[in-house]
This record gives sequence, C-alpha cells and structure tokens, in this order.
Amino acid sequence: MPELLLVASKLSKRFGGLQALSDVSFSICKGDIYGLIGPNGAGKTTLFNVLTSLYVPESGSCNFMGHQLTRLKPHEIAIAGLARTFQNIRLFGALSAIENVMIGRHIRTRAGVFGAITRNQATRAEEAAIEQRAQELLDYVGIGDRANHLASALPYGDQRRLEIARALATEPALLALDEPAAGMNASETVVLRRLIEKIRDDGMTVLLIEHDMKLVMGLCNRVLVLEYGKVLAEGKPAEVQRNPKVIEAYLGAGAATEHSKEAS
Ligand SMILES: Nc1ncnc2c1ncn2[C@@H]1O[C@H](COP(=O)(O)OP(=O)(O)OP(=O)(O)O)[C@@H](O)[C@H]1O
Ligand SMILES: [Mg+2]
Repeated sequence: MPELLLVASKLSKRFGGLQALSDVSFSICKGDIYGLIGPNGAGKTTLFNVLTSLYVPESGSCNFMGHQLTRLKPHEIAIAGLARTFQNIRLFGALSAIENVMIGRHIRTRAGVFGAITRNQATRAEEAAIEQRAQELLDYVGIGDRANHLASALPYGDQRRLEIARALATEPALLALDEPAAGMNASETVVLRRLIEKIRDDGMTVLLIEHDMKLVMGLCNRVLVLEYGKVLAEGKPAEVQRNPKVIEAYLGAGAATEHSKEAS
C-alpha cells in the first residue's frame, strides 16, 4: 500500500456569497505527482491557499504527515514540509537569483533570518554553506549560470524555475506548484516536465495545478478535477479524461455526447 502523505477532508471556503470550495476531500500518496485541474475560477489556487494557511477554511481539516495544516501559521507550513510556488510569481525582484534561494534556505538553519541580517561571526560559516546549497539548487533547476542576475531581470520561464529552487531550499516533502508552465514556450515546458520528474525521482511528492492538459496527463499519476469549488472527478489521468462530466466542464454542454459518439 502506498503511504499517505496528505489527507484533506471536507474543506470549505467562502468569500462573501461565493462558495469557492465546498467539501473538498482528497488524498495524496508519497511519490505522487498529483494533478489539480479545473476551469478558471474553479477554486484551485484557493485550495493551495487553504493548504498553506493563507486562508482559514470555514470547515474541514487537512492532515499532512501528522500535522493539522489548517491549525498552523503560514510560516509553520514550510517547516512542516510543504512548500509552494505562486500563480503570480512572488520573488524579491531587487535581490539576485541566489539571494532569493538563500532566503528559502534560512528556515532550515540555526542562525535563521535574524542571524543572516546581523551576520555575526558564528553565522558566517553557516552563511557560506547556505550560499553553496543555494547555488546547487540553481544548478538543479537549470539556471545556475544566472545566480547573480536580479530576479526581476530574468525571463519569465527562469523566474518560475527560480521560484521552484526557492521552494526546494526549504527541503519540502510536498512541493505544490501553481501553474508552473504558465508563460513558458513549448521547449521550456519540456524542460519543466523533466525537472518535475526529477524532483519526484529524488523522493519528493508534487501537487501540480496546470492548464496544459498534455503536461498534466503525461506527468501526473492521479488527477483531481474541481468545478465551482466542488470535486467533479478524481482518479487516474485516463479515467478522468474519459469522464463525461469532465469533458462537459471543459468543452461545454453537449460536448460529452458528441465525444462519446466519436469514440463509438
Ligand atoms: N481573496 C478572494 N476574495 C474574494 N474572492 C476570491 C478570492 N480568491 C479567490 N476568489 C474567488 O474564488 C473563486 C476561485 O478562485 P481561484 O483563484 O481559486 O480559482 P482557480 O481555479 O485558481 O482559477 P484560475 O485557473 O483562473 O487560476 C473565483 O471565483 C475567485 O474570484
Ligand atoms: Mg489559480
């Protein structure tokens, strides 16, 4: 039996009159590349924000390696082993690429962010180790030669990879990526796909929000489909792709019948 890493039960989140998530339940196993798909506004990013404690859900719970995620503060989430990237890239634009990764690394070090700022003697050796590890992570995501470039000056695809490096710096068990291929061209997307596979092969579990269906269906071993904040389907990519409710949600009413006619 695969080991369960995250079990979300009946998560609900409302914004005023809008029910952004209703009773969303799902489980992620260790080693999964778990896809989260659904039309625009389905609640995918809201689910990430609930999992990472940026939003407090009205109800529901989420067990992640023994932690109740909804009870943690946002900064405790990374310490618990869950790191994420953002749909709208959030980097420190005025800092270099390597400095952005070093910030991610500080939660796993004794000196912490305060030590890094004061730079007392005891923290200097640790700082050098942090810098070395940050460089290794930039190499890992394929932008090692751009370590000293300002984050804001990097092309879009590199900024997305830099966000992944910064998330990896926290040594997560679960890496949650919100549309990492957005804005990438076809060849950058191929490189990204290899990177996500490498991350999984190196022992991490991945939760992936993505609109590029080819990428999702080729990469993920399970897929959760949201629509209007509700779970529409969950299963293996091939099952989900055949599900008439999913076809209808993506292609509109009537498409499912057309599709089944074509298939027969
Ligand atoms: N902070 C907020 N305040 C009010 N409404 C919000 C907030 N965040 C999200 N929403 C609404 O909740 C719904 C779900 O939004 P969400 O961003 O989770 O969708 P999504 O599935 O990530 O969509 P997309 O594919 O466009 O990124 C939308 O109707 C959105 O307008
Ligand atoms: Mg979103």
